[in-house]
Amino acid sequence: MNTHHPVLPWDGFQAANRFRRAIRKFNSTTIPEGDVYALLAEAAFAPSSGNMQPYELHWIREPALKAKVAAACNGQKAAATAADFVVVVASPAMGLRTARAQLSHVESSTTLGPDSKAYYRKQVGMFQKILGIGSSAFWSPLVSLAALIRPTLSLIPIGHTGGRQWAARNAIFAAQTIMLGAAAKGIDSCPMEGFSASQVAKLLDLPRGAVIPLVIALGYRADDARIEERWRYPISDIVVSH
Ligand SMILES: Cc1cc2nc3c(=O)[nH]c(=O)nc-3n(C[C@H](O)[C@H](O)[C@H](O)COP(=O)(O)O)c2cc1C
Repeated sequence: MNTHHPVLPWDGFQAANRFRRAIRKFNSTTIPEGDVYALLAEAAFAPSSGNMQPYELHWIREPALKAKVAAACNGQKAAATAADFVVVVASPAMGLRTARAQLSHVESSTTLGPDSKAYYRKQVGMFQKILGIGSSAFWSPLVSLAALIRPTLSLIPIGHTGGRQWAARNAIFAAQTIMLGAAAKGIDSCPMEGFSASQVAKLLDLPRGAVIPLVIALGYRADDARIEERWRYPISDIVVSH
């Protein structure tokens, strides 16, 4: 028993995790604004590399824009019937923005001790350096070449491709937090990668360098939503014990 967490919410977590399905047809019920806002606020607590939060969560509420985003989702029914969308947007530049904000928070903090301040200066400073390199197109071909020889290098946040991959990967934790949180509130979701990234980027006026790892459709499942049997690859083959 972890005494820091005496009330274990396993049952609630499992119920939410099992309730969450990719729903492709929503009914016309609207989601209370406060609920969506609460989900987005929780998503900000998702872990991220160096606490850099290299993402934005674009909450699409305005009906005309919603219709345009739905149209950019390749005619998917989940999109056409969604009550709300959250477009997850990521970029190394957003990580750098967080780094600057975090450093100024650290410098002005009256509660952090000198050791903590030194730790954050070093840690955040390191990410600033790496992401600074990441914005340079010069490194991308070199990293790609190195990754051919050493595949594990494919995931380092250096070079503009590596930096975007890194940002997208981090944003996905926030996306999953939104969907599990939604499930805990009885709200359904559908994660979607089937959309025109260039169209959505244009609709949201995203800066160059930003990527869209996921569009999340939110709503309440329609009575006749087709929900397939939930199959998974055998757990015994996914879990590799060492
Ligand atoms: C990154 C990602 C992209 C996905 N894109 C789509 C999509 O474009 N359209 C869709 O209907 N479902 C999409 N899905 C949902 C998956 O098909 C679904 O999660 C999977 O089949 C497992 O079903 P479950 O979520 O109900 O457990 C996506 C899921 C993920 C994680």
